[in-house]
Amino acid sequence: MIKDIRVRPIENSCGKKTVRIKLVTEKGDFSACAAAGTSEGSHEAKAIKIDSAIRYFPRYKPKFVGQSEKQIDHIIEEVGLDKLGVHISIALSIAAIRAVSNNDVYKFLNPKAKKLPLPLGNVVGGGSHKGYLTEQEFLVFPKKAKTMQEAIETNQKIWETVGKILKSKKMVDGNNFEGAWMCKLDDIKTLDLLKEVADQYGAGIGMDIAASEYFKNGIYYYKNPERRLSSDKQLDFVLGLIEAYNLEYVEDPFHEDDFQNFSRLTKKAKTLIVGDDLFVTQEERLKQGIKKGAGNGIIIKPDQAGTISRTLKTVKLADKAKYKTIVSHRSGETKDSFISDLAVGIGSPLIKCGIFGRERKSKHDRLKEIWKNIEYPKLNSI
Ligand code: PGA
Ligand code: ZN
Repeated sequence: MIKDIRVRPIENSCGKKTVRIKLVTEKGDFSACAAAGTSEGSHEAKAIKIDSAIRYFPRYKPKFVGQSEKQIDHIIEEVGLDKLGVHISIALSIAAIRAVSNNDVYKFLNPKAKKLPLPLGNVVGGGSHKGYLTEQEFLVFPKKAKTMQEAIETNQKIWETVGKILKSKKMVDGNNFEGAWMCKLDDIKTLDLLKEVADQYGAGIGMDIAASEYFKNGIYYYKNPERRLSSDKQLDFVLGLIEAYNLEYVEDPFHEDDFQNFSRLTKKAKTLIVGDDLFVTQEERLKQGIKKGAGNGIIIKPDQAGTISRTLKTVKLADKAKYKTIVSHRSGETKDSFISDLAVGIGSPLIKCGIFGRERKSKHDRLKEIWKNIEYPKLNSI
């Protein structure tokens, strides 16, 4: 039974305000923090200003207090997600599933869980995450690792090696808020470098193109080098990259409402085509995508959906339609490691949780802990 709920503001990795919730129950206290994006999709669950969300919460708190933790998502729906705002809603929902599962969320979601996701790590960043490149994330994932420890270390070694090379060329300007290098090379040279280093470690590479961020009036505007691509040319460009660099993971290659070109690309490319801003973890958006054959993978970000129940509904539909689920952090992260439990619990082949920085390390630490807790654990594959 919920005895009290405490909310306080904290800062996320982008230096923006978010919330930490403490759920006081008869079994003990359970906390959770809310993540938030920078390149948010326009169809995500809506946020309200943190100060206002905290100020309004006492109005709604009496509806939760005295109820069972199991009822939290239901009460959130009754109150209205838009009234609570997504930060409070998702933090409440995560704290609730922690309370229900006694902090073993992955086991609660799947008592027989054996396979852990491969960590998909952001090595070089751009787009609205700052930096010089137009595309948002240049990613790697370990394919030869045998343990979670090895998998995480492989990504770290690639990140370090790429950083060293960029520094020696004086082509880097520090790290963005996801810990990825802000590299001054153009996108093609960045891919050349990433592929070369990833090959040395037997890792696969991919990209989050986050194309909505630079699409305007039918044109994709690239800044390094400067060029303008129509949707048809964008399709050719992405297909060319997939072939030339053997991209095994491609996220948001078109703007967030372009189901049609997602579908064209999915038919032509024999690789994982993932919708993030396209689906925003919403069941209804995924339904549309399945109908149109748009993509074959979906990013799962609980804060896009607003509650864990909503998130799990989307996951269920994805599993049924054989879309791969890729659980993901946000650029604005906290040290909360919930997504690691979620990825194991739903059997995601990949978890996008970054490489460098304390907010990313907390996810790695939890993955390593879960690895130790499972008898005969295995790494998943894509
Ligand atoms: P965001 O970026 O958290 O800023 O939305 C992550 C992503 O697009 O995958
Ligand atoms: Zn994305």
